[in-house]
Amino acid sequence: MRVIKNPKEMTKASRETRAKGKTIGFVPTLGYLHDGHKALISAAKKENDVVIVSRFVNPLQFRAKAFAVYPRDEKMDIAICRDAGVDCLFSPSTEAMYPEGFDTSVEVEDLTGRLEGARIRWHYRGVTTVVAKLFNIVQPDRAYFGKKDAHQLAILKRMTDDLNFPIRIVSVATRRAGDGLALSSRNSMLTPEERVAAVVIPRSVKAVAQMVKSGNRDRAGMSKTLRAMIEKEPNAKVDFAAVVDAETLRDDVYGASTLVYTAVFVGGKRLTDNMVVKSKT
Ligand code: PAF
Repeated sequence: MRVIKNPKEMTKASRETRAKGKTIGFVPTLGYLHDGHKALISAAKKENDVVIVSRFVNPLQFRAKAFAVYPRDEKMDIAICRDAGVDCLFSPSTEAMYPEGFDTSVEVEDLTGRLEGARIRWHYRGVTTVVAKLFNIVQPDRAYFGKKDAHQLAILKRMTDDLNFPIRIVSVATRRAGDGLALSSRNSMLTPEERVAAVVIPRSVKAVAQMVKSGNRDRAGMSKTLRAMIEKEPNAKVDFAAVVDAETLRDDVYGASTLVYTAVFVGGKRLTDNMVVKSKT
């Protein structure tokens, strides 16, 4: 497995791969890889000749304090990628991605402001900016993202269409621990007590998803119920809870499926979870 740090070298390697008629599957990550990432890698391996993973803690999508403490372990990431049969790991430095004078950002306007996006526009702008850069550097045929980050996924699909990236976005089901908690690198930052408390999140999302399945259309009421269920746990503080149309992320549109979405602080760590359910016709 090759480990490439330089963006130009990465693009050269990708071009050589494509020149040989091989397809590239790309898994962008923040590093500190876990089973959720392994599921993305294994989906990419099934559909492509070559798999490239990137690990980059993107400063544009974090507040300074969170960026400083985000877990990093390059050796572990290299070992996991090797084990999983990845062909190339792109692991650039901040300076390589954002050299002095870097002055461009990419923003998907309407979708970014939906759900809790109005408050954290800067975060999603950071995500779209780095993913647009990574798409240009890696030039894959397909890119793999988890369904767990439902808002991010909707925004990235829109960006890929709007900017004519010749890339297919593939979404992969959320991997969960035995007790239901969605896998995330952030789980490693929870204390044992917080880890137990966090289970209230998937339980409550599932209960509200069940209400949607049974035909409940009172989205404002279900959002309140979701918040109340989660906050019964003293260690959990809901940052955002919503029940919306899964495609437009609007609460006044009733399409084919419905998204139950929440972002919750557990001991100061922000965890997100969601479920998409077919709306009852
Ligand atoms: O979901 C993530 O891991 C990150 O937001 C991404 C897509 C790798 C961009 O930094």
